[in-house]
Amino acid sequence: MQQSIPLLEDPDTARLPREGANGHRNVYLETYGCQMNVSDSEIVASVLRRAGFGLTHDPERADVVLLNTCAIRENAEQRVRHRLNYFRTRKRKRDQHLKIGVLGCMAERLRYKLLEQEQLVDIVAGPDAYRDLPRLLNEVAETGQSAVNVQLSREETYADIAPLRYASGGVSAFVSIMRGCDNMCAFCVVPFTRGRERSRNADTILTECQQLFDKGYREVTLLGQNVNSYQDGPVDFATLLYRISLISPELRIRYSTSHPKDCSEALLDVHKRQPNVCNYIHLPVQHGNSDVLQRMRRGYTVDEYRALIARARDLCPGISLSTDIIAGFCGETDTEHRDTLALLEDIQYDHAFMFMYSERPDTYAARKYADDVPEEVKKQRLTEIIALQNRISLENNRSEIGSTHTVLVEGPSKRSDAQFCGRTDTNKLVVFDRLSLQKGTYTRVRITGCTSATLMGEVISD
Ligand code: 5AD
Ligand code: SF4
Repeated sequence: MQQSIPLLEDPDTARLPREGANGHRNVYLETYGCQMNVSDSEIVASVLRRAGFGLTHDPERADVVLLNTCAIRENAEQRVRHRLNYFRTRKRKRDQHLKIGVLGCMAERLRYKLLEQEQLVDIVAGPDAYRDLPRLLNEVAETGQSAVNVQLSREETYADIAPLRYASGGVSAFVSIMRGCDNMCAFCVVPFTRGRERSRNADTILTECQQLFDKGYREVTLLGQNVNSYQDGPVDFATLLYRISLISPELRIRYSTSHPKDCSEALLDVHKRQPNVCNYIHLPVQHGNSDVLQRMRRGYTVDEYRALIARARDLCPGISLSTDIIAGFCGETDTEHRDTLALLEDIQYDHAFMFMYSERPDTYAARKYADDVPEEVKKQRLTEIIALQNRISLENNRSEIGSTHTVLVEGPSKRSDAQFCGRTDTNKLVVFDRLSLQKGTYTRVRITGCTSATLMGEVISD
């Protein structure tokens, strides 16, 4: 879904640093779902900060708790509901003044339920209503009543709001370039939760990228539900990417997520010509059988997709590819499922985000098809897909052992401060000794080992 802005397999939680702001109401913001939500939370933080609210990373110190939610699959919604129940219990038992809000993709769909039936929340704000948050928060404080704005917009891109980049480590930043999605894939709720496609003004994007570079950032990831359908007047996505790539050869550019139907020759050409446009594309296929793709309303056949991959590999040798896969979509037969396995085996993606189909209200699939693959079968098929892809990812990583890469140093690795991590041009995470390396610099690394998810390397000075 061009949502895929790679959804983390598990909803991610990002937290704000404490910002003090004594005497003001403190807001705690928690983020679920995709990178787009992380980016949106940075906009929300900026709007609130400008309006004089404090921001805290500690929910215990918060006067207002806001959950930026994801609706893409049922289990994402359930996680949010559990969290809401937790805060509601806290409010009832010991913290009557606490205000609880739901932002993002669950807002529109569940506002009546959350507000009226379940009385779980005080504030509901949809993805296009973040400028209105200070007013909503004040209204709740003044009236004691709940406050809602779930209006979707055809224009809102938050182009003029400088995100408060609490989720970034100072090296790599998200830059949102378009919002919404018009594709209406049969399984996907995003067009309903995020509304129509609209592109942000190109000049504001270029300015933001330049400012990030000037502040020391060395990588930008351009975000949108469907980035490669970007269009601002005559500026299409390939042109935008090319212009950003001219800011500096030291600035790496990535994007997420793209739709195969909009992956143009001009776009591949920019990958080929501009070394700082990373040699990596996340190109969700969703399924390996053309009949299923048609039921999914994806707008391409498996053969067309294979031809696109062949073209990308032809133009950009060594290009790294990742995908999204859905197991157990409506009517999926065992033979159709095996076509997905065959496609994964053929294409040999470096990475895949793999999901079990989850019926979403209002979608074409929910209205027209039966969700008829039994849960157990869905699970079994997903397990097979994951096992196969893990093997492929491991083999691909093993074949990297002995090769050297230019890695952008991002900072300490998850496990140890003595080790740093960074990414190759091809988006592979590498862990190496810290030495006297500085974040935000490039270093050459020789790969010495791997798992299916990570490369290990040693820094070399060639
Ligand atoms: N069920 C399962 N997976 C879904 N995705 C989108 N909608 C659904 C759904 N209803 C997956 C797609 C998309 C990714 C972000 O999430 O693979 O690309
Ligand atoms: Fe992506 Fe399709 Fe969903 Fe749009 S409708 S966000 S293209 S899966």
